Amino acid sequence: MRRLQDRVAVITGAGSGIGLATARRFADEGAKVVCADIDEDAGAKAANDVGGLFVKADVTVEDDVVRMFATAHESYGSVDIAFNNAGISPPDDDSILETGLDAWRRVQEVNLTSVYLCCKHAIPYMRRQGKGSIINTASFVAVMGSATSQISYTASKGGVLAMSRELGVQFAREGIRVNALCPGPVNTPLLQELFAKDPERAQRRLVHVPVGRFAEASEIAAAVAFLASDDASFITASEFLVDGGISGAYVTPR
Ligand SMILES: NC(=O)c1ccc[n+]([C@@H]2O[C@H](COP(=O)([O-])OP(=O)(O)OC[C@H]3O[C@@H](n4cnc5c(N)ncnc54)[C@H](O)[C@@H]3O)[C@@H](O)[C@H]2O)c1
Repeated sequence: MRRLQDRVAVITGAGSGIGLATARRFADEGAKVVCADIDEDAGAKAANDVGGLFVKADVTVEDDVVRMFATAHESYGSVDIAFNNAGISPPDDDSILETGLDAWRRVQEVNLTSVYLCCKHAIPYMRRQGKGSIINTASFVAVMGSATSQISYTASKGGVLAMSRELGVQFAREGIRVNALCPGPVNTPLLQELFAKDPERAQRRLVHVPVGRFAEASEIAAAVAFLASDDASFITASEFLVDGGISGAYVTPR
């Protein structure tokens, strides 16, 4: 499919995981991809992989975010798609009883303030074009509670979800769609480590997934490509769950 032929897409956190898989999928569908990441090696490698452009950016720094979209526009002539995806889930963000203010604030900055900055600076380009698709990465924990808590992470993703909904409503009549992507757990190095180190803890999560496994990053990327494309032309302000049925489940199959 070449649904994104010649569209210009900016992806944050493109150096790894969901961002990297999406950079590949966007490029396969014909997009010109700007890969932004704080990690220079990973970001540059991703850009090289997909024949795109690397911009070193810390998404918590407003000047970096401004430069990222300006570079996309100057290099390729438009900003059609913004996949605001960079995020962290550090180990010192845990139960509310254990999580200190520094850890709380850092996660809010990287996961939520970054999405505010990216939307703030992508939307003006899209308004001028009268067209654009923004996909902000939230999480299934924005709609469900977990007893294995990462309190600031969860709160940040709830913020991403509410902000995306509001922006989707505000800019709908200007041709700009804004959706919150809510992935379930994805099979990343971090999760694999958890499985290896603490199989019981991993199993405690897996039992809640009706399909019986975690997602592959490419499966999340497929959903992002759909939301970015005109196939999703009537979808905005949505909480787009790609969670293997987790949020719909009461009892799961054996
Ligand atoms: N992996 C999961 O199970 C899962 C589930 C639901 C939601 N998510 C969300 O999906 C997004 C991507 O997750 P992932 O698993 O692919 O993560 P990842 O750690 O594999 O990749 C994240 C990328 O973001 C970059 N990054 C981190 N801080 C940054 C900053 N300040 N500025 C610019 N880049 C920065 C990192 O260098 C890295 O390349 C995150 O928002 C995460 O919260 C992940």
